[in-house]
Amino acid sequence: MDTILVTGGTGYIGSHTVVELINEGYRVVIADNLSNSDIGVLDGIEAITGVRPGFEKIDLCDGTALREFSLRHSEIKAVIHFAASKAVGESVEEPLLYYRNNLVSLMNLLEEMQQRSVSNLVFSSSCTVYGQPDKLPVTESAPVKKAESPYGNTKKISEDIISDCIKSNSSLKSISLRYFNPIGAHPSALIGELPRGVPDNLVPFITQTASGLRKELKVFGNDYNTPDGSCIRDYINVTDLARAHVVAIKRLLENKSRENYEVFNLGTGRGVSVLEMIRTFEKVNSLKLNYSITSRRPGDIEQVWADTTLANRELGWKAESNLEETLVSAWKWEQNYRNKQK
Ligand code: WQD
Repeated sequence: MDTILVTGGTGYIGSHTVVELINEGYRVVIADNLSNSDIGVLDGIEAITGVRPGFEKIDLCDGTALREFSLRHSEIKAVIHFAASKAVGESVEEPLLYYRNNLVSLMNLLEEMQQRSVSNLVFSSSCTVYGQPDKLPVTESAPVKKAESPYGNTKKISEDIISDCIKSNSSLKSISLRYFNPIGAHPSALIGELPRGVPDNLVPFITQTASGLRKELKVFGNDYNTPDGSCIRDYINVTDLARAHVVAIKRLLENKSRENYEVFNLGTGRGVSVLEMIRTFEKVNSLKLNYSITSRRPGDIEQVWADTTLANRELGWKAESNLEETLVSAWKWEQNYRNKQK
């Protein structure tokens, strides 16, 4: 079976994707600098799959280290590129850090792929490229808007870099996957999201509030033009998302792509409000969350959810888990993780 390089493979979405790749029989080599993840994630992957993936601690911004790595791994047939910094707020504070980390690493990777004639790349992109879409649900052909943050801009520029490289190099093929809001954890609760410090994202903040680590969840605004006044997002189960990467890799390796550069939305196709998220979490886990309504968070868009027709049709993929089981998995992971810290 083919060997896949997974950059950022110890991260949240990366680790779940490594599990799905191994389950499908692929060999996996992870390259990760562990800047926002823990080496212990490899134990979780091994406990779930019975296989310990290859791992090398490497910063992709270091071109020399990447060259040496790729010389040692001539077996690599395709790359899934997750490694990137992803905190929106931090990217506003430190734009150069984000442009360097997210763009220099991608350029080094593309150069190395070209040198070694590795021609298949799955790229981890984001619905953030749509901003507030004019029409909902949003399709892949919706215009890409001016980014709200340096982080968002790195995703937009990365897509442009990849598509320009493909125009100049006919052997390169890539699929960019635009994620909506990934949530939840592997059902085993052996891997999950490990936010450092105070989480920015809704679901880790909910689970940390439920576990007592945070006093109160703040709902950022209930005066939006939505049915209950809170923002709407498309929350996608992380294992469903991970499965889509395996499908995309197969599509590239089997030369099934319609074009050398393709883009797919990965969401459920369903919009859920912040208040609905809280209510569902409380119900399925039989607990009460301490929360209050505060003012809007700057930069938040009002509502977005995916049109997933293209991914359903072309990839034969669709989100299978429902919100209820996903929120159960998130809470199970939080409890498991906190118990291990004690
Ligand atoms: C979801 C909703 C908040 C925290 C994320 C990523 C971003 C990009 C797109 C990847 C919003 C509300 C949140 C809290 C709240 N992904 N909220 N209280 O803003 O959609 O962005 O997806 O590229 O990088 O961050 O996700 O989880 O931060 O917020 O009320 O404490 O929850 O206002 O409506 P968002 P999120």
